[in-house]
Amino acid sequence: QRQRLLVTRTLPQASQARLDKGLEGVDVVQWKEDCAIPRAEFLKMAKGADGILCLLTDKIDAELLDAAGPQLKVVSTMSVGFDHVHVPELTSRNVALGITPGVLTEATADTTVLLVLASARRLREGMSAVINGEWGTWSPTWLLGSQLTDKTVGIVGLGRIGVAVAKRLKVFGVQKFLYQGTRPKKESEEEVGGAIEFADMDRLLRESDVICVCCALTDKTKNMFDYNAFSKMKKSVVFVNTARGGIVEQDGLIRALREGKLGSVGLDVTVPEPLPKDSELLSFPNCLVLPHIGSGTLETRTAMSEIAIDNVLKGMKGERLPFPHDA
Ligand code: GLV
Ligand code: GLV
Repeated sequence: QRQRLLVTRTLPQASQARLDKGLEGVDVVQWKEDCAIPRAEFLKMAKGADGILCLLTDKIDAELLDAAGPQLKVVSTMSVGFDHVHVPELTSRNVALGITPGVLTEATADTTVLLVLASARRLREGMSAVINGEWGTWSPTWLLGSQLTDKTVGIVGLGRIGVAVAKRLKVFGVQKFLYQGTRPKKESEEEVGGAIEFADMDRLLRESDVICVCCALTDKTKNMFDYNAFSKMKKSVVFVNTARGGIVEQDGLIRALREGKLGSVGLDVTVPEPLPKDSELLSFPNCLVLPHIGSGTLETRTAMSEIAIDNVLKGMKGERLPFPHDA
């Protein structure tokens, strides 16, 4: 009997070609508009699916699983994060969950470094000045930023991405890393090498010149960075979030920016996404926002979609996923 696979968006070219060529014994139904599948459409198209290949923009909860039906075997998300998926609901229905770890580590770490440097060196202000004809003359005192040499960097979440960020930043002369997470990670410390220590949150907030958020969004990390946390940071801090918008309590961030409590901020993730054009967050010259493109290279997105297809096909056969969420 043929199986049904729902794919919620057009995939990068190589993976889309793989779908278009046809999959043995599988009928593919796909949302091909260049926008997130509307909820009503998602519920309708999920009906009868044996596998669902989704994105981080698609909420997977009890309602969706019920709409799909009891034959559903696997949900495969083309992302490493799975905060958009209600895992207990999948587990209770015996539906497997696949993710795309590893392949996006380098690209996401690159984006994090990009935001650290761009924020620290006031890229947004410099570019605006040039575009708006406000570039007067070379000046010994104009648009001065800060540099990483001899600085302390706080990494929140020393997972694959956190380690890759630390390794990159080391090259810029960082003196010391402090990190936070669920527990001290000796192997990760060794991978980074040099001066790195597990620190309590209070110390990390007070001592770091740069703070990079590299952890997953969970019940424990939701709104972890609130006004109180921002108030403890150095006034010159460079704060960068390439993980999930929900880890930051955004009104608290806006208040801290308004009160001049933060040196510079670089965000690849916000709440909501997309961030409305009139969000106050966009009004601060020292806050730079990217449209969630941490993993956005052709190489990485292709690797992610290939894994997502591999995961979903294995799952539909009832076999172990190459990259399950709980590996
Ligand atoms: C991107 O944010 C991902 O989770 O893959
Ligand atoms: C998190 O999933 C990571 O890869 O660091």
